[in-house]
Amino acid sequence: MSVYYFSVFVLLPIVSPQDLEEMSSLGPANTLKIGESCLRDYQCIKNAFCRSQRTCMCDPPYTPNIEGTVCHAAAGTNCGPQIEDCSTMSNSECIQGVCACRDNYFLDINNSSNCIIRPSRVDDACQRTDECADALDGALCVNNKCKCYGNFIFVNQTGKCIQAVGIFMPCKHNYQCYEKDKPDGLICTDGECAYKHNGGTSNFPVCFLTGALASSLYFFTN
Ligand SMILES: *[C@@H]1O[C@H](CO)[C@@H](O)[C@H](O)[C@H]1NC(C)=O
Ligand SMILES: *[C@@H]1O[C@H](CO)[C@@H](O)[C@H](O)[C@H]1NC(C)=O
Ligand SMILES: *[C@@H]1O[C@H](CO)[C@@H](O)[C@H](O)[C@H]1NC(C)=O
Repeated sequence: MSVYYFSVFVLLPIVSPQDLEEMSSLGPANTLKIGESCLRDYQCIKNAFCRSQRTCMCDPPYTPNIEGTVCHAAAGTNCGPQIEDCSTMSNSECIQGVCACRDNYFLDINNSSNCIIRPSRVDDACQRTDECADALDGALCVNNKCKCYGNFIFVNQTGKCIQAVGIFMPCKHNYQCYEKDKPDGLICTDGECAYKHNGGTSNFPVCFLTGALASSLYFFTN
């Protein structure tokens, strides 16, 4: 829209005294924020125009910050040598003449001037389930964070959500074996998930011994 007004000015042979008077009475150029009332495009901040001669608005596809003081470059803003750069769009670069998210970043669905780093672990930020599924396999986006689904668990060694394998079930790696109430209590031995027996402190013998003690006490006291 500023392009339109610009060409009108260029085509006019002279600027009339009325125009000059109007321009000075409307105040300095590029001072009105987004949402403020205006009459002419030049009054609005950079990369903005006076919509219906009423309020300042960012030129599409620019987006305003919350304060309305800056129009940020956004996905699709033209860029290149001598034209707009993409520096006001976070984590972006100029790709084939338009601003776009850098590799390994995705576009914020709520703000096309913002790119968010792709998730790589559970609890990383996300907006859509496929962002989590692409990075972590068995994962979904829940309340803007990647979470493993169902009985899948996040494995640090592989950086993926894998299906947990329960006690006595076939396994290949220690990290597969998992029980909710004993998160670190299982290992994979002889191709099966088993309880860890670390120095006789595992629950199985303890239960057995206390059981034996209880029953002998029962016999002695009766
Ligand atoms: C959108 O993202 C940009 C870049 O991170 C930020 O400066 C701007 O304030 C955001 N806009 C809103 C409305 O939050
Ligand atoms: C995006 O906006 C929607 C609706 O306004 C909101 O529910 C959601 O939490 C926002 N997402 C992020 C990542 O801020
Ligand atoms: C998980 O893996 C990351 C990188 O692969 C490593 O830096 C970190 O120390 C690991 N954490 C645990 C608890 O093993």
